[in-house]
Amino acid sequence: MYDNMVKVIEHPLVQHKISLMRDINTGAKEFRELVSETSMLICFEATRDLPLKSVDIQTPLAIAKSKVISGKKLAFVPIFRAGLGMCDGIMKLVPAAKIGHIGVFRDPDELAPVEYYTKLPVDINEREVIITDIMLATGGTAVKAADILKENGVKNIKFMCILASPYGLETLHNAHPDVEIYCGAVDEGLNEQCYIVPGLGDAGDRMFGTK
Ligand code: URA
Repeated sequence: MYDNMVKVIEHPLVQHKISLMRDINTGAKEFRELVSETSMLICFEATRDLPLKSVDIQTPLAIAKSKVISGKKLAFVPIFRAGLGMCDGIMKLVPAAKIGHIGVFRDPDELAPVEYYTKLPVDINEREVIITDIMLATGGTAVKAADILKENGVKNIKFMCILASPYGLETLHNAHPDVEIYCGAVDEGLNEQCYIVPGLGDAGDRMFGTK
């Protein structure tokens, strides 16, 4: 069972925005804005355990004992191409985080995920990393991204998506049981083309208007 490693963000704002994203009549501009806003809300939960330290701050009235995030270094790693759309929102929340990029495609014959591009911050092995992708469908790409990060010395990985399939959750959890998964909703399943059903269609096409 993966229950304690999967957090579904049931907040009404997340659910409402996902419904708007699902709608076939939602255009690319609005879709991008919704991806960005929903990502911020999911990121809020995914960063809930960041450690804090107490500092003294001079307010206009007195010294306040106040809290700031204590030095834990974060990186976000979007998976091309849809995962990119989640980054502008979350970078507003955590502007000091670094961004890496991973590109993986599925070999049409072998159906295995193949890495075609990886660019990571040089100190990635010292950072907590949150992988972002809008859809966790078969889980193959997410597993490969976590493999690549571990090969680069990353010890602490989370995965953030907007929609997941039960199959994708199980695949990622079985391959990487240490990776916490944050998502907005878990849909019924996958169709023959491995799209999430009912889902929202092709997230990359919806975001970049390529269809
Ligand atoms: N990728 C998408 O963009 N949509 C899906 O439903 C599954 C994978």
